[in-house]
Amino acid sequence: MASVLERKLLVITGKGGVGRTTVAAAIGVLAADRGLRTIVVEVGAQGRLPGLFALAPPAPGVEAQLDEHLWTISIDPDRALLEWLQKLGGRISGRMLAASGTFQYFAAAAPGAKELVSMIKIWELTQGERWRRRAGSYDLVILDAPATGHALGMLRSPHTFGAIARVGPIAAQAESVRELLEDPAQSSYVAVAQATEMAVAETLELHDELLSQLHRELDAVLVNGVLPLRFTASELQRIDQLGGGADAPAVVRASMLAARSVHNRARFQRNQLARLRRRELKVLTIPFLFAAQLDLEAVRKIAAQLSRKL
Ligand SMILES: Nc1ncnc2c1ncn2[C@@H]1O[C@H](COP(=O)(O)OP(=O)(O)OP(=O)(O)O)[C@@H](O)[C@H]1O
Ligand SMILES: [Mg+2]
Repeated sequence: MASVLERKLLVITGKGGVGRTTVAAAIGVLAADRGLRTIVVEVGAQGRLPGLFALAPPAPGVEAQLDEHLWTISIDPDRALLEWLQKLGGRISGRMLAASGTFQYFAAAAPGAKELVSMIKIWELTQGERWRRRAGSYDLVILDAPATGHALGMLRSPHTFGAIARVGPIAAQAESVRELLEDPAQSSYVAVAQATEMAVAETLELHDELLSQLHRELDAVLVNGVLPLRFTASELQRIDQLGGGADAPAVVRASMLAARSVHNRARFQRNQLARLRRRELKVLTIPFLFAAQLDLEAVRKIAAQLSRKL
């Protein structure tokens, strides 16, 4: 099967806080280094990517260049829906629409509308021929999707909202989005997880949901923040002997316990990786990097590591 970098759209999701944005940035850097014109789409006004490149975040919906071959855009689903309603309503101003409560009413009454309108924007980025004539085209669109539940809501939106709007332009667009999301030649799915009980459980659920809703499977699971397994069994035995006696200095006993605890933690993580591998998922690992806030250099390091595997 083609690499996830060779398709038009790469969807990255996973449990909240596991490192989705970091991984999306790293894969973006990697793809751009390979000469692919790449855009990373953030959902909601986070502006994390421009921040990594020490740039001010552009306004929502504006494509901004970060580096050679690398762009970013942030899509705000509320705003996307408001704009769409405005287009439908002709001359109604956005402010009036927002103030009249119509917007809130519509957003609540039309499940999946916000998500579908956002997905249509993302679909449009994957198209060689862009709506706005002067807009560039991209080889790869990387979606830094929201956490699993919300991401599934976006991926399901052609069905959810398509069921309401069966005819007209939105129905045709919903169909294009559905085709993009269901076709393994056009899109791929990567889950980011951490090697914890909860994150692995959520990844396995995501895999099942993708299968039942889109007839798709995860192309890879990237397990982020993996600790190194530093000691062999015989080394651990030797460490135990060092600190064995009750008369051993406190610092030796403390070091021994620390070594044990680091080892147990790393071993626990290996068990979580095994849970994923038992489901025959392609599992790649990203080491835990000791830094307060990951900067561009750290993201490049992750990109280099993934480069050998993606
Ligand atoms: N491999 C790593 N080693 C150490 N820290 C990391 C690693 N990957 C990510 N982090 C840190 O973990 C935090 C969460 O990462 P990130 O923002 O990428 O996660 P997210 O899944 O996008 O979160 P959110 O759900 O808030 O969107 C950040 O502070 C990031 O710098
Ligand atoms: Mg994020």
